Amino acid sequence: MASGPSGSPGPARAGWTDIARMSFLGLLPTLAQGPVIRRPLAVRLAAALDTNAWGCRVLDGLRERHGPGPLLVTVPGRTVLVLLSADDARRVLAETDGSFTAANREKTAALSHFEPGGALITRGAARAARRRFNEAALGHGAAGPWFHEACRTAAREEALPLLTRDELTWKRFHGAYQRVVRRVVLGDTARADERITELRDKLRGDGNWFMLHRKRHRLRAELFDRTRRYLDLPEPGGLARAVRATPAAADVDPVAQTQHWFFAFDAAPIGAYLALGLLACHPEQEARARADETYLRACVLESQRLWPTTLGILRDTTTETRWPGGWSLPAGTAIVFPSSYFHRDARHIPYADRFEPEVWLDGRAEAEWSIAPFSRGPARCPGRDIVLLTSAAFLAELLRRDWHMASSLRLGPARPLPRTADHTSLRFTAGRRPDRP
Ligand code: HEM
Repeated sequence: MASGPSGSPGPARAGWTDIARMSFLGLLPTLAQGPVIRRPLAVRLAAALDTNAWGCRVLDGLRERHGPGPLLVTVPGRTVLVLLSADDARRVLAETDGSFTAANREKTAALSHFEPGGALITRGAARAARRRFNEAALGHGAAGPWFHEACRTAAREEALPLLTRDELTWKRFHGAYQRVVRRVVLGDTARADERITELRDKLRGDGNWFMLHRKRHRLRAELFDRTRRYLDLPEPGGLARAVRATPAAADVDPVAQTQHWFFAFDAAPIGAYLALGLLACHPEQEARARADETYLRACVLESQRLWPTTLGILRDTTTETRWPGGWSLPAGTAIVFPSSYFHRDARHIPYADRFEPEVWLDGRAEAEWSIAPFSRGPARCPGRDIVLLTSAAFLAELLRRDWHMASSLRLGPARPLPRTADHTSLRFTAGRRPDRP
């Protein structure tokens, strides 16, 4: 329980009606959509109702009433601190691996279905070695021109068949991007290995239920064995080659780290497909994205800001932490960074509900710690550049044709962008670009 010196008011506390509103209007729609793997029907319903806007309104109201300090929510079995200000967000993200751990209890329960031993859900001494391994393999290991070329080739070759038809649906886009993911993570020999994707997604489905779903050890063993086969090839490709080149300390299991990459990459097609939707409705930005890959990457980042695929960033306190105002929180308190609230905080961010890729090029987005689609601080995503490279290469290929929105989702500049988007129903029709034969 949070406490302060006598006379200090302590943190603002949510009352039961606040908790009910947060649960029904914020938490429930988020959980229903699937925190680890999306449930398409729930995504469709959430977008139709724009449930993220409900959650934002609830948090706005609480901030108006209680001020910008964090809000303490106590429910049976768990105390949760909800962050409402950029300053607190910065502190929590920056002090990760110190007073706060990214291996929060609920996150660990969800991810341990398919990546036990992953850096993100490791506490204690092994955490530093596993983070180092990830940074080395995804940073230096994958920095060579061979890897960039492999990503570009995979993206180009897999996007090509999508150009031969005049209609583009999520199913076709996702299927093609999945092949890219297998090639980039496990090498070209994994291109057609749909079983490995199926295993990953079944276990992610279990992860959606956190600790409530039993562990399926046999499926996990099959997933790990199949992954190991690609890592053990005489000449592995993609990131498997970077794994081979990266020394692993005794408590680092490279297969478990690779599992996280394979899982996390599945958010990339969602962001890329929504970016294509935004570009189809913003002709000026589309023209610029066609000509400039750096700008196209900024469009992918902007899509992740507008509809963050990591719905919230979770931390647990590792020790008693003191907060401005003189109160303290005990170790083991959960902390929530509500991404879609911070990213669309219109009181703080003038471009909250607009598509403005420029903010990723002129330093405005970087300056805001409350904008963190790839997190920030010591647990920031070490795969960010790989995602941007791959998604931009894939989209660059698709942008050889003119795509027009064929579904009802309104992503144009005429009105504020919806806070919830259903990528699964997005459809495009294509025309040929006038400057191409
Ligand atoms: C659009 C795709 C992706 C998004 C939005 C994303 C986002 C994130 C976020 C928000 C975190 C931090 C979570 C936290 O602070 O609790 C994270 C961590 C991480 N991501 Fe990504 N990620 C993506 C793709 C990838 C890919 C493709 C890889 C690897 C190739 C990767 C590797 C990692 C790793 C290893 C961590 C854990 C870092 C640590 O434990 O310190 N991510 N990612």
